[in-house]
Amino acid sequence: MMKIMKKSITDQLFSALKEEIIRQSIKAGEQINPREIAEQYGVSVMPVRDALTRLASFGLVTIRPRVGFFAREFTPTEIREIFEVRRLHEVYCMERYFDQIDRIELERIDKAMDAYEAHPTREAFDQVDEALHDLLIAASENRFLMETYNHVKDLIILIRHLDLGRIDYSHREHRQIVDAMLAGKKELALARLEQHLDNVRNSTLENIGAMEGLA
Ligand code: NI
Repeated sequence: MMKIMKKSITDQLFSALKEEIIRQSIKAGEQINPREIAEQYGVSVMPVRDALTRLASFGLVTIRPRVGFFAREFTPTEIREIFEVRRLHEVYCMERYFDQIDRIELERIDKAMDAYEAHPTREAFDQVDEALHDLLIAASENRFLMETYNHVKDLIILIRHLDLGRIDYSHREHRQIVDAMLAGKKELALARLEQHLDNVRNSTLENIGAMEGLA
């Protein structure tokens, strides 16, 4: 019984801290003090350390021996590598499964973009961004392909939040991608998707460059 309780606290902490890290309320590179987290959540330090260790195995937390836990920071090489994985999955799926893309979900995303324009919030943008890119992967109906994409998904979300200045541009690019998809213009949609991924990658690289410059 004790063990089950402890495990579920660790699970809850894992989810809560993961959310804080990927939404950047704990900033990239910031040191995470297990004692402070324990106080904040009203739990003991042990499950906090367990949750942080588990987050480290997912690549969201870095452990520096004798120093402590840090929220994940990305090197330019890692950013390039993650975007390469995105391109590999998203462009491939759009190219190969264009006709299988869920039309109803695509129209729902189109409406969600209207809603975003009427009332632009970070949350609304994130939902559209995630739904649109996931839609391409889902079209494959390939469980293994979805799993490999999901493997880097937390990192994709984390990276998206490193690039706060770009929402409006990204929104316009999403709009153009969706317009081309709705019109059945595959080559145009592909070109726009590739351009979008390159633009997001480049501006993320610029952004972390700027952050490194400030440090
Ligand atoms: Ni996007």
